[in-house]
Amino acid sequence: MKNNIAILNIRELITLKGPKRARIKEEMKELGIVHNGALVIENGKIIFSGKMEELNIDISKSKFEIIDLKNEEYVVMPGFVDSHTHPVFAETREEEYEMRIRGISYEEIAKRGGGILNSAKKLRESSKDKLKSIFLKNCEIFIKYGTTTIEAKSGYGLTLKDEIKMLEVIDEGKKETPLDVFPTFLGAHAIPEKYKENPEKYVDLIVNEMIPEVVRRKLALFCDVFCEKGFFDIELTERILKRATQYGLKIKIHADELYSIGASSLAAKYKALSADHLEKIRKIDMENMAKSGTIATLLPGTAYNLGLTHYPPAREIIENGVPVALATDFNPGSCFTPNMQLILSIACTQMKMTPAETIVAATINGAYALDIGDKVGSLESGKDADLIILNCKNYKMIPYMFGINHVKTVIKKGKIILDS
Ligand code: NIG
Ligand code: FE
Repeated sequence: MKNNIAILNIRELITLKGPKRARIKEEMKELGIVHNGALVIENGKIIFSGKMEELNIDISKSKFEIIDLKNEEYVVMPGFVDSHTHPVFAETREEEYEMRIRGISYEEIAKRGGGILNSAKKLRESSKDKLKSIFLKNCEIFIKYGTTTIEAKSGYGLTLKDEIKMLEVIDEGKKETPLDVFPTFLGAHAIPEKYKENPEKYVDLIVNEMIPEVVRRKLALFCDVFCEKGFFDIELTERILKRATQYGLKIKIHADELYSIGASSLAAKYKALSADHLEKIRKIDMENMAKSGTIATLLPGTAYNLGLTHYPPAREIIENGVPVALATDFNPGSCFTPNMQLILSIACTQMKMTPAETIVAATINGAYALDIGDKVGSLESGKDADLIILNCKNYKMIPYMFGINHVKTVIKKGKIILDS
C-alpha cells in the first residue's frame, strides 16, 4: 500500500501536460484539463493520469489506497512550486511593516540599518537550532497552503561563517521535512556595513572564499545576486556570475526591482535559469531573456506588501515570448506570505494574468525555474506524485475566492502529508 494511491472520479484534473520545457505565450493558457479524471500513483510516481473511462490499471483495493472524489466539487492539480523564498531568518520585522505604512520607504529603512542588514545581525546572534526550528515551522506552513517544493536562499549571513551556517541549516532542515528544498547561495544580498565604502572587497570575499567553500561543501545548486542600485551594480554582479558559472552553480538574479539597470539582460547573457522581480524591466531585456530562455519569475506579493502600485508588466513579458513563473518571495522584510494561492490572486488582479496563466506559472514554469521541470510541476506518467486536492469546483475559484486556504489534501511523492 506504501505510496500507492488511486484518485478516482475527479471532477477537474489539471494535468498540465505539454511540451517538456517552460511554457510560453499561448501555451501558458493550456492546463490539460481532464473532466471525470483518474490519477494513479505507484511507489510515489504517477503511473496514470487521464480520463476515468481510459483507466486500464487494476486498482484492486489491496494494492492501492482509493480516494474516490465522486465528481464532487474538488480540483486536483500539481503542488505549487515556489521558486523564490528566503525561509531562514532569526526574527520577523513587523516594526518595519508599520514604518512603511507611516510612509518610510523600504530603501530608507535599509539605509537606517533596518532591512536585510538588520536580519543579518539577528541571524549571526542566533543558534543553528533556533534557525532550524523556525525554518521547519515555515516549511509546515508552505505545505499547509499547498506548496510541495521550494527554493531556499541564504543571504542573511553575509560573512563566510554565517552564510555557511545558513546553508547548513537548510541542508539539515530539508532532511526533516517532506517538502523538497533547493538551496541557493545569496551571499550578494546586501553589502555589509564594513564594506560600505569598498564593496569590491566584499565581492572579493564572495568570489575567492564563499563560492569555492559553498561548492566544495555541496551546500547550494544556484547562485543569486541582488543586482540593484545601492546593492550590487552590474560590474560587481558580473564578477560573481562569472565565478559562480565557473564553479558550476546555475544562476538566478534579483533583477530590475527598483531601478532599470540592465540586470535582466545580464541574467540572459549568463543563461540564468531565472531573473526575478522585474518591476522595471525594459523591452530589450525581455527580448534578451526570450532568446536565452531565462524565466521571468514574478513576485507580485512584494509590491502588494510594500504598498506599491507598480507591478511587473506580466502581459508584455508573456507577449515577448518569455516564460513566466510566479513565486512568493517569502521573507520577513518585503513579503511575508508563504501562500501561493494569494500570489495567484494578486497576479490576476494587478498584473492581468488569467487564472490559467497563473496556474502554469506557479507549477510547471516554477519547476523549470529550478531546473526540475522533468520531475515535478505537471501530473504526467513518470513524474513525482506531488499534488494537491482543493475544495473548489474549478481552478478559477483559486484566485477568485481569495484570502482563504482552498487546500484539502497534500500528497508528496505519493504520500499523504496533509489531510483536512
Ligand atoms: O527579494 N530584494 C532582496 N531581497 C528580498 C528582501 C529581503 C529582506 O528585506 O529581508 C526580496 O525582496
Ligand atoms: Fe527575494
